[in-house]
Amino acid sequence: MTIEKEISRRRTFGIVSHPDAGKTTLTEKLLLFGGAIRVAGAVKSNKIKKAATSDFMEIERQRGISVATSVMGFEYNGFKVNILDTPGHQDFQEDTFRTLTAVDSVIIVIDAAKGVEPQTEKLMNVCRMRKTPVIVFINKMDRPAQDSFTLLDEIEEQLKIKVRPLSWPINNGPDFKGVYNIYDRSLKLFDPSIQEIEEGIDFRDVSSPELETHIGDDAQTLRDELELVEGVYPEFNRDDYLKGNLAPVFFGSALYNFGVQELLHAFLEIAPPPQPSLAEEREIKPNENGFTGFVFKIHANIDPNHRSRIAFVKVCSGKFERNKVYSHIRLGKTVRISSPTAFMAEQKEIIEEAYSGDIIGVPDNGSFIIGDTITSGENIHFKGLPSFSPELFRYIENADPMRSKQLNKGIDHLMDEGVAQIFTSQFNGRKIIGTVGQLQFEVIQFRLEHEYNAKCHFEPLQMYKACWIDSDNPAVLTEFKKRKHQKMAKDKLGRDVFMADSQFILQMAQDEFKDIRFYFTSELN
Ligand code: G4P
Repeated sequence: MTIEKEISRRRTFGIVSHPDAGKTTLTEKLLLFGGAIRVAGAVKSNKIKKAATSDFMEIERQRGISVATSVMGFEYNGFKVNILDTPGHQDFQEDTFRTLTAVDSVIIVIDAAKGVEPQTEKLMNVCRMRKTPVIVFINKMDRPAQDSFTLLDEIEEQLKIKVRPLSWPINNGPDFKGVYNIYDRSLKLFDPSIQEIEEGIDFRDVSSPELETHIGDDAQTLRDELELVEGVYPEFNRDDYLKGNLAPVFFGSALYNFGVQELLHAFLEIAPPPQPSLAEEREIKPNENGFTGFVFKIHANIDPNHRSRIAFVKVCSGKFERNKVYSHIRLGKTVRISSPTAFMAEQKEIIEEAYSGDIIGVPDNGSFIIGDTITSGENIHFKGLPSFSPELFRYIENADPMRSKQLNKGIDHLMDEGVAQIFTSQFNGRKIIGTVGQLQFEVIQFRLEHEYNAKCHFEPLQMYKACWIDSDNPAVLTEFKKRKHQKMAKDKLGRDVFMADSQFILQMAQDEFKDIRFYFTSELN
């Protein structure tokens, strides 16, 4: 198969949701279709239900599985489908944001009873920022749900995107009878006792009295609602969807494997193949000859018996080949990757080659950090992996002076993995950890102890934001750093960061130093 053909048959996407809406269940059902897993229950949820360390320990125990399931590839009807899983817990949202930089489209799962929830909104904001095409799956129709039109209004309003239903439910909860698939004009009847994949009934003309034989009195309601749908929502336009302006909506019940196949078929028909990626120097097209890729995720210590790390690399252009010599742009040296892995749901295996759209796992002994670019020679740097200003800050201190080397190494590794951000105060030299959630501090403490045999404790620090700063006027920058030296820190890469104690202090600094730019993400542009 030519490179062009290999690339055009790839579909790389992420499934996102507010915790508990059904992301894991839907992922698992999609994998069953792809034959990537054989039995339900094979995909372990990597979500953390309560914000408790004990849950995290359990997750850690299953780490081997959760790593394999964080990228899942399978073949279906001639397509190579790559699903990227994202952590549901909000304390790990940075990980999710980074993963979304590696996908070409997204399926958002919404609980039909709860509607749009806070995490759904945040995730949609990221998709909108990146103009990622989005399909909505309204899940749990077998349970009492909100009115379908109300749900669609809520999605339009809160997620700020136009919608177009491509399937329509017939009732919900105990009266749920099935969905009418507007996309291919067929009726699919719901039977909770059957979870097998069933063919829909071809039903081009819903005005036919035959509809009554299938769904009785609900037939007229369905006709009326479909008429309303056609009247209210514009025709489905794939271009609008691809531009991220229109979200097609499907209804179903992932638990009962209902509406999932329709979703998958429509997805494969409309979702985009690998898209161009933006490097600082230029746009990189997926079908270019040269290989390029970037690291969007790092997992350390997957196997507690070996100090192993895996860097997840998204292939952005060309063909990746095992054992070929590539350039590691940040380090300015060459790398030869001898055991790259691909992830199938139940195992990871060594691969010989991969194409744009694929994700490969690269065993790493510490030479990669998140955002690194690898290419077949061209000197480019991929964009779009910003660190966000953390929301919580603590000093980190060594609790076992005999093991400071282990502690420093552990902190270094965990920061490379993107678990949190570290800053070094230029005033007192103390190390500050910044996170978006309390759970991250617990995770750091737990992992330092269990993976590096090092102990730490945290000390409270009242801080509002860490802002990266720069200016076209070096003298002003020097003056700023001198005046604010008590509040200046360096990030992991040695960049200047202003640590503002409060919104007021930040505002004052901004007012006083008009020539200084303050950034709330590490991407300084
Ligand atoms: P998440 O990954 O988005 O967090 O959600 P997950 O798939 O784990 O689903 C959350 C809960 O909702 C699970 O129940 C799951 O069985 C249930 N669920 C998912 N889809 C449907 C659906 O279509 N209909 C119904 N009725 N329930 C659904 P749980 O009791 O929390 O977990 P479990 O112990 O059953 O795994």
